[in-house]
Amino acid sequence: METQDQNQNQVVTMPRIGDKAPEFKAVTTQGNINFPQDYTGKWIILFSHPADFTPVCTSEFMTFANMQKEFDELNTQLVGLSVDGLHSHIAWLRTIKEKIEYKGMKNMDVTFPLIEDISMNVAKAYGMIQPNENTTQAVRAVFFIDPKGVIRTIIYYPLSLGRNFDELKRVLIGLQTVDAYGVALPADWRPGDDVIIPPAGTCGAAKERMESSDEDQTCYDWFFCTRKLPKEKVDELRKK
Ligand code: BEZ
Repeated sequence: METQDQNQNQVVTMPRIGDKAPEFKAVTTQGNINFPQDYTGKWIILFSHPADFTPVCTSEFMTFANMQKEFDELNTQLVGLSVDGLHSHIAWLRTIKEKIEYKGMKNMDVTFPLIEDISMNVAKAYGMIQPNENTTQAVRAVFFIDPKGVIRTIIYYPLSLGRNFDELKRVLIGLQTVDAYGVALPADWRPGDDVIIPPAGTCGAAKERMESSDEDQTCYDWFFCTRKLPKEKVDELRKK
């Protein structure tokens, strides 16, 4: 999708949910990558941040690093990006590890790749530069990409607001649950909550649903039925 930026008259490319993730090759703090091919078979969280050596971004990177094991268990590769250069990235990650203690987190090792994107080619391809917010820094974009390389969820935050990591994890587990169990998930769903089953496709099925005595199923109306999905079933999706 292309949108016209109001102030600058620039065309901004914005990938959409359901699109194949735009491909690119990049230099990162973990070596060169071929995206998304290098991560085929894994979920990917591709996220951008405005700049190295800034406080909100530092708090976010420490939180990502602190949750690395949880993302590994969810078969998920983290990939960061900003329009800074590689040496800035390396210096910043070294500072985080060696000097910063924040909310009980210290000695935090960022082991996922951080892309250098001085050219802004990747940031522009993913709509991470939003000129009415900032022309030279990426906003806080988060792309959830499935093991087939398809974009499944996109969340954008502005420069001044750090991401909610509970929500990032909830979205990831939610998408994996949707795929594994063929269900939809209601507002504020958390593992262990009831899930929504596909709507009845015939009048007969609608009647059957409303008259069902299945104790695991609740119908609020013929088109809105839920069933139990125990937390253990959701937890099974994690790698041991
Ligand atoms: C930050 O990460 O602290 C930040 C970066 C750019 C603009 C505002 C805040």
